[in-house]
Amino acid sequence: MLPISDFLARADAVEHEAAAVFAAAASADAVLDARNRFLGRTHSARAALKDLLGEIAPADKPVAGRRYNELQQKLEALLAETTERVGSSTASGPSFDPSLPPRTAWHGAVHPVSQVIDEIAEIFRELGFTIALGPEVEAPWYNFTALNFPADHPAMDLHDTLYLDADEVLLRTHTSPVQVRTLQQYAPPVRVLAPGNVFRRDFFDATHAPAFMQLEGLVVDEGISFADLKATLTHFVRRFYGPTVPVRFGPSFFPFTEPSFEMDLRSPNLGRLSNRWLEIMGCGLVDPKVLELCGLDPKEWSGLAFGLGLERIAMLVHGIDDIRHFYNNDTRFLRQFA
Ligand code: DAH
Repeated sequence: MLPISDFLARADAVEHEAAAVFAAAASADAVLDARNRFLGRTHSARAALKDLLGEIAPADKPVAGRRYNELQQKLEALLAETTERVGSSTASGPSFDPSLPPRTAWHGAVHPVSQVIDEIAEIFRELGFTIALGPEVEAPWYNFTALNFPADHPAMDLHDTLYLDADEVLLRTHTSPVQVRTLQQYAPPVRVLAPGNVFRRDFFDATHAPAFMQLEGLVVDEGISFADLKATLTHFVRRFYGPTVPVRFGPSFFPFTEPSFEMDLRSPNLGRLSNRWLEIMGCGLVDPKVLELCGLDPKEWSGLAFGLGLERIAMLVHGIDDIRHFYNNDTRFLRQFA
């Protein structure tokens, strides 16, 4: 007969040993070995204890049997836990493929349009401009009325503009409403740059997208004239495209500037577009009516404004021939400008 205390001591020893062996198992093979060693049908620690049950005095059998069942459950639980931790693959060899090349670190990069914003903002920062932002969902008053659009202007038509909520708000069609919001919030003199998304009921093609980015500029101060407009924008273009780039101003029309101009440049290093006059922005002197609608006296204050399409600038700088590349999120495209 085997004393019950010996049986219980052996059961404890098996339990401790199994805990250590399963904890150390790091591969599917090691789990299998541990299973055979402790839980196998024959020649395992569990099988050996089962045989010992036959040598226990009848009076002690219930205690020994209970301990045996409890141990068996613990071993099965250990096996299940370890299998889950290591993965249930029964393939032999290491659980990873040591011949694979290492994963390279993923380097994030600034999007080419964001790069253009940063560069432009840096040039204008030296001239005293700060950044202003406005909402992308705008009231028609800010988007049109305060900018002196007549009530029947075609830009306000349903087929040009994305209205929301029974025409009470719309997705802004340009960044110019930030001019109005700035003048309402800050007393002049002001110099701000307002980059942001704008939306039009347009279809995608190589040069159009229904959502794109603009950058607006506004200066309001005493005695701002065309000389300031010309000097400011020429300085910007020469800093951005090179000191010798020829620029010219041509007549244009916008409801919120009077007079209005388009600014063109001619650059030798723009690939396919080299040595051609390219329109890069609209600009002008702030219409006195806009100043009035923003609560400023046009006899006291005057201003200049300009607006440009940011994707178009990035396309010119990098020789990109289709605006749709910017919105496809193809990292192979984006990586070229990282
Ligand atoms: N808001 C105009 C547009 O979306 C661009 C523009 C033109 C902005 C002239 C200006 C400006 O500030 O002076 O077409």
